[in-house]
Amino acid sequence: MLKGFISLVVLSACYANAVEVVANAGTVAPHTIALQSRRSPKESPLRRRALSPSNVPLADFFLGTDLQWFGNITVGTPPQEITVVFDTGSSSLEFASTLCTTCPQVKFDSSKSSTFVDGGRTSSITFATGVGVDPVIGANYKLTLRSGRDTVGVGGFSAPGVSLFLITAQTPKFNIDPFSGIQGMGATAQGIFAALINQGLPSLFSLYVTPQAVGKAELTLGGTDSTKFTGTPIFASLPSGSGNTWQLASPGISVNGKTTTVLNTARTIIFDSGTSNVLFSTNTANAIYALISPDIKPNPNEAGTYGIACNRISSLPAVIDITFTSQSGKPFNLTIPSSELSVGPFASDPTLCQTLINAFDGLELVGGSLLKHYYSIWDVGGKRMGFAPAVGV
Ligand SMILES: *[C@@H]1O[C@H](CO)[C@@H](O)[C@H](O)[C@H]1NC(C)=O
Ligand SMILES: *[C@@H]1O[C@H](CO)[C@@H](O)[C@H](O)[C@H]1NC(C)=O
Repeated sequence: MLKGFISLVVLSACYANAVEVVANAGTVAPHTIALQSRRSPKESPLRRRALSPSNVPLADFFLGTDLQWFGNITVGTPPQEITVVFDTGSSSLEFASTLCTTCPQVKFDSSKSSTFVDGGRTSSITFATGVGVDPVIGANYKLTLRSGRDTVGVGGFSAPGVSLFLITAQTPKFNIDPFSGIQGMGATAQGIFAALINQGLPSLFSLYVTPQAVGKAELTLGGTDSTKFTGTPIFASLPSGSGNTWQLASPGISVNGKTTTVLNTARTIIFDSGTSNVLFSTNTANAIYALISPDIKPNPNEAGTYGIACNRISSLPAVIDITFTSQSGKPFNLTIPSSELSVGPFASDPTLCQTLINAFDGLELVGGSLLKHYYSIWDVGGKRMGFAPAVGV
């Protein structure tokens, strides 16, 4: 889920990742100068790590497509179990509370936690994307929040006094979610993740977000799980000034092995584990669809979405190769296979199937439909992302 960019132009920078990127666009990239020593270096003492990596199992919220994963955290004393989406597109922790009378999810009761501290601040956040085949424009994903602090636990780790938000009201769009909240996992460590790094957890996490048929989806905090990928991961650096945003520069996109002037253009692509669909600018979306089928057309009933007759979709080749550049300067592709083209029938017309890219001007973003085909490493400390072939996918 990506916070706030619907009202990007009028939003304050603390809400919108994309604003931050623009504001920092002029920053000079740090230069690394390799140094060599003639003497063999003295053995450096291994930095003591207080915590070793831990795996958190994830469940797949299957809505006809495998595009949203969630797992458990605990909040409070004694601990109350809360399910959250681990969302690389946002940075804070918020979950349903007993203060929310309309939230159908499992709710946290702050009055039953001896360590809960009410922050007394109310605010609201709007997410631009939600779950499944929803359109992004006009969809109203708004949470009303009250600030607080409490002990938070995840994967067997725990930290006291973690800043969080209780959901006190939510728009009905959230009601179908089987999870109670969102744990932001942005590119700058915050909240529970920052606290665990202070306790000595290595500052990276990894995601194995598999289709339901494969199962065993998991988040690894503080490392990678080598049983879940093959080969050596390829790493690419976040552009300087990325702030909280997980994003990589891409020199171009190909569709079914072909490209066009519009597609073969440098762009920055955001990676968002909390978003199902792909969001590209209208120009990019149109150029990609033109290479798949002229019959994929915008659905005027749902702004930003595209569709084609469901009975045609499975025969269409739609391999989308997005090229990136590794830390060693070599190009590599992340590929969305043809099987992702359909995200299911529109509620308003079940014979019309929605296709995976929504037009959204102002940023370009990939979510579950790409991430489920790779083992992904989110290296907060190293300001880079890694990808390797995922086992079983
Ligand atoms: C979360 O906890 C509940 C209750 O203990 C359990 O049934 C469920 O399987 C857990 N979910 C995951 C993804 O581990
Ligand atoms: C990326 O995909 C394009 C289109 O299929 C292909 O031409 C190119 O060789 C691929 N690049 C790499 C590094 O595999």
